[in-house]
Amino acid sequence: MLVLGIETSCDETASAVVEDGKKILSSEVASSLNFHKKYGGIVPEIAFRMQLETITQAADYSLNKARIKLKDISLISVTDGPGLLGSLLVGVSFAKAVSIATKIPLLGINHLHSHIYAPFFKEEIAFPFVALVVSGGHTSLFYVKDFDKINLLGSTLDDACGESFDKVAKILGLGYPGGALIEAMGRKGDQGKIRFNCCDTEKPMDFSFSGIKTAVLYLIKKQGVSSLQRKQDIAFSFQDSVISALIAKALAACKIKKSTRLVIGGGVAVNNKLRERFIEESSERDIKCYFPPRQFCMDNAAMVSGLGYRLFRKGYKSKLGLTAQLN
Ligand code: KG4
Ligand code: ZN
Repeated sequence: MLVLGIETSCDETASAVVEDGKKILSSEVASSLNFHKKYGGIVPEIAFRMQLETITQAADYSLNKARIKLKDISLISVTDGPGLLGSLLVGVSFAKAVSIATKIPLLGINHLHSHIYAPFFKEEIAFPFVALVVSGGHTSLFYVKDFDKINLLGSTLDDACGESFDKVAKILGLGYPGGALIEAMGRKGDQGKIRFNCCDTEKPMDFSFSGIKTAVLYLIKKQGVSSLQRKQDIAFSFQDSVISALIAKALAACKIKKSTRLVIGGGVAVNNKLRERFIEESSERDIKCYFPPRQFCMDNAAMVSGLGYRLFRKGYKSKLGLTAQLN
């Protein structure tokens, strides 16, 4: 069964064709990121205007690349939230229009749930498991009993994890988006030079990243960044503290839920240090970590097609009243 996936929750216009939830025939991502760089973050107005201009081409391109005709598609699966309202509406409206014109069934997909699906492109994962989604817009822990039984355990009270990488990179003058830049800068950082606290929250499975961002800002205001080494030390310590907090909370969730499987998805899951430490520290507790293939950590439509396939097989279908969900 062939599924056309559409994903426009943030800056990207993504379209993919996936067979039986596993075989990725095409996965195309056009991003307006370059147009946001000078503002140091995503400008929703720019994002959705560009998505409006590119969505038809992106879908066409992914069908052509997969060598598939629209008439051979059995389901149109589209991200309906959470994300930027204007951006989501572009994808949802496009998918609805195609569904009306072709009578192909339509299914709205939760963006965070689709990030949890991405590791399934590598291997099947037995239910239940704990899942951590760490992206530019979200940081959430879930308990996943099935593709349609995903319960939220905790989430960030302020900034998202990726957002804190982006903000700290901006404070350090590294550019945007900041995740990969912080990772590269931190590679030569000196361990133990600086320590930041991260993520103290009342509820153990919630997150908070605004405090560590402010701590970096105050440190730099007070002491300046006198050398490259100093920048590297700050980048290292920031990243190290964030990763420690993510691991502590995810492993606490595994302990509470008695789960021996932990899925990690979202753009921040590309980070090599994060992967290494998660694998190392989880294996000490006999917990197995599952990561998506690197190219499917960041936003893409293949994961939307994949999850769409699994849910459609369970009988899920959306009505034409489908609209953007902000939460
Ligand atoms: O999942 P994603 O593509 O978009 C959202 O759904 O938000 O994630 C984008 C986020 C950005 O904040 C970016 O800085 C972060 O992922 N990111 C990283 C790395 N590469 C991208 N964070 C840490 N280390 C990286 N190597
Ligand atoms: Zn995402």
